Amino acid sequence: MACLSPQTDHIGRVKVLITAGPTREPIDPVRFLTNRSSGKMGYALASAFAHEGYSVLLVSGPTDLDVPEHVDFVSVQTAAEMHDVVSRYIGRMDIAVFAAAVADYTPARVEPQKIKKSGETFSLELIRTVDILGSARESLGFGGTLVGFAAETENLEFNARDKLTRKQCDLVVANDVSKPGLGFESDQNEILLVYPEHSEALPAASKHELSHQLVAAIGRLHAERLSSPMPI
Ligand code: CTP
Repeated sequence: MACLSPQTDHIGRVKVLITAGPTREPIDPVRFLTNRSSGKMGYALASAFAHEGYSVLLVSGPTDLDVPEHVDFVSVQTAAEMHDVVSRYIGRMDIAVFAAAVADYTPARVEPQKIKKSGETFSLELIRTVDILGSARESLGFGGTLVGFAAETENLEFNARDKLTRKQCDLVVANDVSKPGLGFESDQNEILLVYPEHSEALPAASKHELSHQLVAAIGRLHAERLSSPMPI
C-alpha cells in the first residue's frame, strides 16, 4: 500500500474521495482473483473533479492508468486494504464516490507457497469481503454525499434502486455491462442516474465526457443536500 502524506485543504475546496479499479485477492504467491474493471471511469471522474476545483483523493486497485494530475493517490491491492484506507480518510470528506469493482469474495486462506496441481478438480474456499460502500453510513458514520455504482447485466434500474436503498446512497450510477462496446475496458459508457425520487438516463458518450456530466450532477446533488440538511 502506498503512503499518503496528510493533506488538509487550506483553501476551502470541497473534498471528494473516489474508489476506482478492481481489487486483487491473493490465492498464493503467483495467483489472485480479480475482475475486468479497467479503472477508466473512476480515473476520469477523479480528473474531472480535480479540473473543476475539488480536492480529490483517489483510492485505487491495480490499473494500467496514469494517476491524474492534481489528485492525491493511494494504491491498494485487496478489498480489505481498500476498506482500511477508506475508513481512515472518509471522515474528512464531503463527497464519496465508490466506482471501484471490489471483489465480493476473497480466498479464506492465502497459501504461503505456490499451490501444486493434484486431482482433476480443485475447490477454493471463499469468504465475503467487507462491503465498503455498504458500511459507509452506519459503521464509518459518513454523513456527506454518497454515490455508488452498479454494474448490471439485467434489470438495470430495479437492481440499482435496490443498491441505492440498501447502501443508503444519494445517487447510484448504473450501467448495463452486457451491452457490447460499453462499460468494462471500453472508453465509452452509457449510464442511468438513479436518485431516491427519480432516474435520469445519460446517453452513450466517452467516459471523459460522461465524467464531466457526472461531476456536474454530483455537485448539484451535494449543493441540494447542503441547502436542505437532514433532520438530526
Ligand atoms: N462495493 C464496495 N465494496 C464491496 C462491494 C461493492 O464498496 N465489497 C461498492 C462498489 O464500489 C459499487 C457498489 O458497491 O459502488 C455496487 O457494487 P456491487 O458489487 O454491484 O453491489 P452488491 O451489493 O455486491 O450487489 P451484487 O449482488 O450485484 O453483487
